[in-house]
Amino acid sequence: MEERPVLVLDFGGQYSQLIARRVREARVYSELVSHRLSAAQIAARKPLALILSGGPASVYAPGAPSLDPEVLRLDVPTLGICYGMQLMARDLGGTVAATGASEYGKTELEVSDSRLFQNLPAEQTVWMSHGDSVTAPPAGARVTASSPSTPIAAFEDEARGRYGVQFHPEVVHTPHGQEILKNFLYDVVGAPPAWTPAAVIEEQVERIRSQVGSERVICGLSGGVDSAVAALLVHKAVGDQLTCVFVDHGLLRANEAEEVVETFAGHFHVPLVHVDARVRFLDRLAGVTDPEQKRKIIGEEFIRVFEDEARTLGDVRFLVQGTLYSDVIESGGDVGVAATIKSHHNVGGLPADMRMELVEPLRLLFKDEVRRVGEELGLPERMVWRHPFPGPGLAIRIIGDVTEERLEILRTADAVLLEEVRRAGLYRELWQCFAVLPAIRSVGVQGDERTYAYPVVIRAVTSEDAMTADWARLPYELLETISSRIINEVRGVNRVALDLSSKPPATIEWE
Ligand code: XMP
Repeated sequence: MEERPVLVLDFGGQYSQLIARRVREARVYSELVSHRLSAAQIAARKPLALILSGGPASVYAPGAPSLDPEVLRLDVPTLGICYGMQLMARDLGGTVAATGASEYGKTELEVSDSRLFQNLPAEQTVWMSHGDSVTAPPAGARVTASSPSTPIAAFEDEARGRYGVQFHPEVVHTPHGQEILKNFLYDVVGAPPAWTPAAVIEEQVERIRSQVGSERVICGLSGGVDSAVAALLVHKAVGDQLTCVFVDHGLLRANEAEEVVETFAGHFHVPLVHVDARVRFLDRLAGVTDPEQKRKIIGEEFIRVFEDEARTLGDVRFLVQGTLYSDVIESGGDVGVAATIKSHHNVGGLPADMRMELVEPLRLLFKDEVRRVGEELGLPERMVWRHPFPGPGLAIRIIGDVTEERLEILRTADAVLLEEVRRAGLYRELWQCFAVLPAIRSVGVQGDERTYAYPVVIRAVTSEDAMTADWARLPYELLETISSRIINEVRGVNRVALDLSSKPPATIEWE
């Protein structure tokens, strides 16, 4: 089944990707594409609708991103947001001007009878971020919303299917934004809410089958949700033609290696090669304290081990990779239809010269969709909702020397921390939560004896996308339990500290 997309034309606004995600949250398939596509290229995709995104500039600025004028003549319902709205106004016979009435932040909006705002309050709060304003709507369009300083905050031309809003319905600061998008998608466009995890699985299984045929496929499992979901999709499609390889480098959190083996080999009966490479990695890391050096060694060693295993499997034509849609968008920059852009990097750090063809079943999915597909496939909740974890694992959360003893300290402390955070019901609210082992020791006293031991640092952050993050306000009672348990239960630790830094200027990980 070929999905007809809602195409989000990207004019460079900071929320462009978010618009595509919101459309998909309404269970309508959408893709983010460049504003440079010609009308013919767009028409060839048979889009259900177009959404013109926000953009950074004034439509009159030199070099401002523009649109093939024929696009607005296509018989496809179109919604312009912010810059997109102004572009529609300018190109369809209206006017835009720097009125001096710029709006940034929450704004009160008054709406009149309209398809976009149907069944919604006549007065609502929306998020604005603009300097210029539409001063006359396109020919044939009527004004449907206004704010105190922007008389034309929305317009619509029902007959021609053209809609514009000055505010950002895609951001959470516009409380009715998602309903406005749904009104556009369901009522104006008539798009069915058919993009469900079950539909994604069905479509991907078909694609994988036709790509792979009767050939053999290999997939590296990391313990993370992306490679797990990718592997399960491929297994569903081609069964035991798939072999998974799980390289245990000994740098995972407590019980993770066991969980991978139990879930894949035990529960799903996926052919699994479990490589115990713990000693090999520790040997190579001995005496290495520089984090970049650690990353390099682990990356290289991982490739070596994986290649050795792949070789023993004989003739394998295909390699599964968990590339996500956000990777595709980010690597594609500004040109072409996203779906035709080549993958920019090998997730999991596999070498480009491995002469295998890539199978990328997550290429069209955002992270939250991967999780929902994982749930639908029956992946355990713990794996589906696992916090992000760096490829080099605990090696970069141990400052200084990585030894078996220090790994054991960190793993045990981290397990206590996660257990208590889960027990408090806070795990899913946090972007990441983990323990860090610094390279210092300090004096303490235990019983009648003085100790000289490590502190453990608690790092817990909230975030939307890891680009920025804030330290999580964990309750004092929870911190107290975590601290006393770690100090009592983890040998070699006599203090617990809490990291109170946001990103920027700090990073999420310590290295
Ligand atoms: P920082 O520390 O730069 O991290 O704020 C941002 C996010 O990236 C994750 N991270 C990694 N993920 N391989 C990964 O797959 C890595 O080598 C790696 N290093 C950092 C980090 O956990 C955080 O979510």
